[in-house]
Amino acid sequence: MHYTNKSKAILNWYDCRKRNLPWRSSKNPYKVWLSEVMLQQTQVETVIPYYENWLNNYPTILSVANADLDDLLKIWEGLGYYTRCRNFYRAAREVVSKFNCKIPDQIDRFRTLPGVGDYIAGAVMSIAFNQPEPAVDANAFRVVSRLQSIDKPFSKCKNEINKFLSDLICTQRPGDFNQAIMDLGRNICTPVNPQCIICPLSKHCSTFINNT
Ligand code: ADE
Repeated sequence: MHYTNKSKAILNWYDCRKRNLPWRSSKNPYKVWLSEVMLQQTQVETVIPYYENWLNNYPTILSVANADLDDLLKIWEGLGYYTRCRNFYRAAREVVSKFNCKIPDQIDRFRTLPGVGDYIAGAVMSIAFNQPEPAVDANAFRVVSRLQSIDKPFSKCKNEINKFLSDLICTQRPGDFNQAIMDLGRNICTPVNPQCIICPLSKHCSTFINNT
């Protein structure tokens, strides 16, 4: 599908309301990947200075692969979940040794790297390589569950959520589409007191329409 009413509504909203975050100014796959690893378990506001400091010290994937892990962990200090940093280092080394320093643009290959799961793979493929892959974080999961009135844990409806987003995703702007859904979940479709009145998708939302 190219542009549906729903995907048009969400991209229009994103174009008007999107925040200028540092990782949104580049489609460099290394920078996109780093930002998504940092954002996976950490709030946007916390990530910003860490992301900038990391890139000042390690501007390329090769510089990460050649770094000392202890130095990387020092820069990571305060972000928590240090396995993310260790995996990113191991993955950088594999990109250099197995993929000739080039981050793979095929999802199946990228997915083989340490620490790369469905979410990171979808986010990097869509944002950096313009591929129509969904990226389902907790925010996107909540948005879709409400749009479709799905009342199940993610493990029980993963395929349903992925299928819904794959059908809806804007093939011209898949990265913006995925980030728009994440922003919507964070800022409008919040866990408590969602702002349905100003939600661009409320007229497509089965939970809103049925007042549930
Ligand atoms: N959370 C995870 N990835 C994000 C992104 N690219 N932009 C904003 N929030 C995010």
